[in-house]
Amino acid sequence: MTTTHGAVLPDTAPQQDGALVELRNAGKSYGNIRALHGVDLAVHPGKVTCVLGDNGAGKSTLIKIISGLHQHTEGEFLVDGEPVRFSTPREALDKGIAAVYQDLATVPLMPVWRNFFLGSELTKGPWPVRRLDIARMKQTADEELRAMGIVLDDLEQPIGTLSGGQRQCVAIARAVHFGARVLILDEPTAALGVKQSGVVLKYIAAARDRGLGVIFITHNPHHAYMVGDHFSVLRLGTLELSADRSEVSLEELTNHMAGGAELAALKHELAQVRGVDVEELPEEEDLTAPVKTSPAPPAYPASPEGTS
Ligand SMILES: Nc1ncnc2c1ncn2[C@@H]1O[C@H](COP(=O)(O)OP(=O)(O)OP(=O)(O)O)[C@@H](O)[C@H]1O
Ligand SMILES: [Mg+2]
Repeated sequence: MTTTHGAVLPDTAPQQDGALVELRNAGKSYGNIRALHGVDLAVHPGKVTCVLGDNGAGKSTLIKIISGLHQHTEGEFLVDGEPVRFSTPREALDKGIAAVYQDLATVPLMPVWRNFFLGSELTKGPWPVRRLDIARMKQTADEELRAMGIVLDDLEQPIGTLSGGQRQCVAIARAVHFGARVLILDEPTAALGVKQSGVVLKYIAAARDRGLGVIFITHNPHHAYMVGDHFSVLRLGTLELSADRSEVSLEELTNHMAGGAELAALKHELAQVRGVDVEELPEEEDLTAPVKTSPAPPAYPASPEGTS
């Protein structure tokens, strides 16, 4: 195997129990800010690794290291068991690591098939009369989308007319077609409704079934639990939880995400501010129950005759 940089990769790369990508005690500082510290993470083929955490927990920093946008400043980063240090996302792509970001790099007015091949257009004919091989691009895009179970009425429609979820799906199929082995999805369901999130989750599962190692970043423990094989929860730049699916329930995962203890402390603080006993705070069902009121006094004194 040869990369575009001319580096020859060994055919039988030493593997760390089959991990495609591995972080060992990895960390990243931006000047004085330590955004990530002591993180262990392994991505295996045919598995979905979910990275969860609150705002500022270090999720984006983590995937920027893996996708070649930033470099780690502590620990080790291995691909196929070999220590690496990427300088650009191109180097990560050459190793089969592709990232799909929320703000997808698509041209809204161009047809779906054109966006599918954006930057890697197929051509035909000898130089200098090489031209775009439109028929082959349309057919390939159609086949690849169908192989992932994505059925669009018309590949000629501008990609801007697709829903956010459908565009995510096209981006996933595109990464698969161009040979990704590791697929990184940064909050793909964050801006989507329930139904569309379900569609994206389905294609995450489809990518996994095709043998890719998927890193799924999300705030939502329910979405993570639907497709995840492993869960890594980040808090303030360190791993708070790293557990296989068999070791953690959805409830536990939700608690880790919500910071159960922190919520209890917050409730107490709020109660003190308001000067009420925490036990007196209404439960949710009390707030939704119909309000009981005493009969309203008549607006005018009732006439003794009872006439209206
Ligand atoms: N380029 C940067 N320079 C300095 N500090 C940064 C930089 N990028 C991130 N940070 C800091 O690193 C920490 C982790 O940020 P990061 O973006 O990785 O969090 P996140 O988990 O992706 O959050 P969100 O859910 O809001 O996207 C934050 O405290 C952030 O302010
Ligand atoms: Mg982020």
